[in-house]
Amino acid sequence: MADIMLNEEERMLRAAVREFAERDVAPHASAIDEAEYFSMDTWKGMARMGLFGLALDPKFGGGGGGIKSVAVVTEEIARVCAATAVTYLVQVALAGYPISTFGNDKQKARWLAPIISGETIGAFCLTEPTSGSDAAAASTIAKKVNGGYSLSGSKTFITNGSVGNTLVVFATTDRKLKHKGFVSLVLDRQMKGITAQKITGKMGIRGSDTATIFFDNVEVPEDHRLGNEGDGFKVAMQTLDHSRIAIAAQAVGIAQGAYEEAVRHAKQRQAFGKAIAEFQAIQFYLADMAMRLEASRLLTYQAATLKDSGQPFVKHASMAKAFASESSVFITDRAVQIFGGYGYIREAKVERFYRDARVTPIYEGTSEIQRLMITRYLLQET
Ligand code: CAA
Repeated sequence: MADIMLNEEERMLRAAVREFAERDVAPHASAIDEAEYFSMDTWKGMARMGLFGLALDPKFGGGGGGIKSVAVVTEEIARVCAATAVTYLVQVALAGYPISTFGNDKQKARWLAPIISGETIGAFCLTEPTSGSDAAAASTIAKKVNGGYSLSGSKTFITNGSVGNTLVVFATTDRKLKHKGFVSLVLDRQMKGITAQKITGKMGIRGSDTATIFFDNVEVPEDHRLGNEGDGFKVAMQTLDHSRIAIAAQAVGIAQGAYEEAVRHAKQRQAFGKAIAEFQAIQFYLADMAMRLEASRLLTYQAATLKDSGQPFVKHASMAKAFASESSVFITDRAVQIFGGYGYIREAKVERFYRDARVTPIYEGTSEIQRLMITRYLLQET
């Protein structure tokens, strides 16, 4: 299990989170998927474990580990419930991280400390109905007014969008300036002019909350801005660079869960007088699954190690994200195949893993965007 990549502390963290995930998360995974239900009980459990402070400013309650620790936690939770894993990683890596990295002390005391304690739920609001991959084309406008901005527009596919209270929102002060006009604003959900509509009917990660959020002339004081005016796009990009490692870890966790189910089933299920694990066709499936799983995990830990040690990591984060997510789709598909008809019904965990995996090459930058970024770096290097 790529143990050589983890130090003693990270192994202990993994063991503690595995126990929590199996005891408190796994028993509800199927029900929250079925009901498309965000579990506040699970949220509180993660808060009690202190998981929301990882890789965030220790001065405001965070501390312990870096993105590798976040990856370890995300993987373990995703191994039993991908929906809970994305709920978690958005809090720490997409909402907590930009405030921790770009916020001033006053902003951190106000918004980061309650994110770390789990008192508030965070969301990262970049995608719009007409701009996903082309993030700089966002049209949510932050019109400059006396003392701040008047924010209007909408954001969609926002994880934690209808349950979240702290929203990190990206908007443009002037569309003609493209990315140079971006600002990053932290909003409190109760501010006048914000409404949200939950998106239902997702294929997978159904127990996570996803919403479209509307901003109607929301008055946002200037001290809600992270960094300087015009810094917004960099805040978004650097946050995504960081959190893509966590998404890669989510993909690894989903794949691990499906792989374990497949091995167990292959050993138990009899056909033609013996366990199907004795047939070379199934053995080759399992070998392919195991190879991709290990490679995905190693790429993820490599990107995390580079980031945590202050080295260039963006190309590696994109490689990890693209490879692990595509491998997760492959591995969960093979797991369903090994289960045969039983893998095609809701009762089988692999059916859920298969649906959950499918979003990973799409969100937080599609596989195509990751390849674009990898190539940009490759061409600069050689
Ligand atoms: N770090 C810092 N700065 C960066 C950067 C990075 N990684 N990437 C770009 N920049 C800077 C560039 O240096 C440039 O700055 P200057 O003008 O000062 O030189 C500026 O940003 C513009 O860069 P590009 O010309 O590269 O921008 P682009 O328009 O060509 O697009 C892109 C770049 C990489 C394609 C970007 O649009 C992108 O990442 N798209 C994908 C968006 C995405 O991942 N969305 C996911 C939404 S979140 C989600 O899914 C969350 C969820 O709920 C789970």
